[in-house]
Amino acid sequence: MKRNTVSPPSRIKLTDSAILEGDALNALRILPPRFAQCVVTSPPYWGLRDYHIDGQIGLEPTLPQFINHLVAVFNEVKRVLRDDGILWLNIGDGYTSGNRRYRAADKKNPARAMTTRPDTPDGLKPKDLQGIPWRLAFALQEDGWYLRSDIVWNKPNAMPESVKDRPTRSHEYLFMLTKSKQYYYDYDAIRETGLDGRYRNRRSVWDVNTQAFSDSHFATFPAKLIEPCIAASTRKDDYVLDPFFGSGTVGVVCTHKHRRYVGIELNPDYVLLAAKRLNAAKEEIIKVAV
Ligand SMILES: C[S@@+](CC[C@H](N)C(=O)[O-])C[C@H]1O[C@@H](n2cnc3c(N)ncnc32)[C@H](O)[C@@H]1O
Repeated sequence: MKRNTVSPPSRIKLTDSAILEGDALNALRILPPRFAQCVVTSPPYWGLRDYHIDGQIGLEPTLPQFINHLVAVFNEVKRVLRDDGILWLNIGDGYTSGNRRYRAADKKNPARAMTTRPDTPDGLKPKDLQGIPWRLAFALQEDGWYLRSDIVWNKPNAMPESVKDRPTRSHEYLFMLTKSKQYYYDYDAIRETGLDGRYRNRRSVWDVNTQAFSDSHFATFPAKLIEPCIAASTRKDDYVLDPFFGSGTVGVVCTHKHRRYVGIELNPDYVLLAAKRLNAAKEEIIKVAV
């Protein structure tokens, strides 16, 4: 597919939805300030997947490097988010590898095969839960973000684990972060039904089944997880940004809800996958020069 090429630091003018092929930090730099009303994203987890592409986030040798890398990306996200905008950030946790050096391929998910695995982070022991979501949340708070809510994504259909010395993990976090003290949040749009049958303010534990996306080999988040985020933090035609677009789930929800999207994805194969899924016109795809 033919792509327009734009090099930072030139800024592009957005007129409609777009998919940017390139590194998140680099691509964010060509976007205009304060264009996005909300950001919904799931960055790669640390040491968990190898997407086999240079520049990928998640393979940093140390945990502090990974956290710093993401803080830098989200600092640039802050520049392109409207002052009254919201960032919804989904991130999962993991255990230290116990200094195992590799992980074997998994037939269903080749990206899970790892030829190198990070060392046990300083201060942690083999078998320790890394606590990555909270480390990242605190680092973002320190970088100026308001941490407004931790939402527990409970997965009723979570995969079994072959462990007998701790409970099976069946949740991830979704953090709600804002740029300012006051922001646009339509609580009415996402109210839920309470035990007495009446509507009430949405609670902070969300039950959402994981959903396999047949065309891809990596972790896509379910549309149902992000629908409430987009409903509560945007209006019709607003822009929603996902700097780690993957298969373009944010784009799919935006299209259904009549929002515009901007997705950034490093891997050209995933860009094509998302473009196909979204029926995107070729003018929508912009390659960002390194
Ligand atoms: C967890 S997946 C996102 C999945 C997405 N939420 C979906 O529903 O399909 C993370 C994505 O980040 C991409 N990625 C890794 N490093 C990147 C970077 N430096 N810049 C932009 N994208 C990157 C990976 O290729 C992968 O597609």
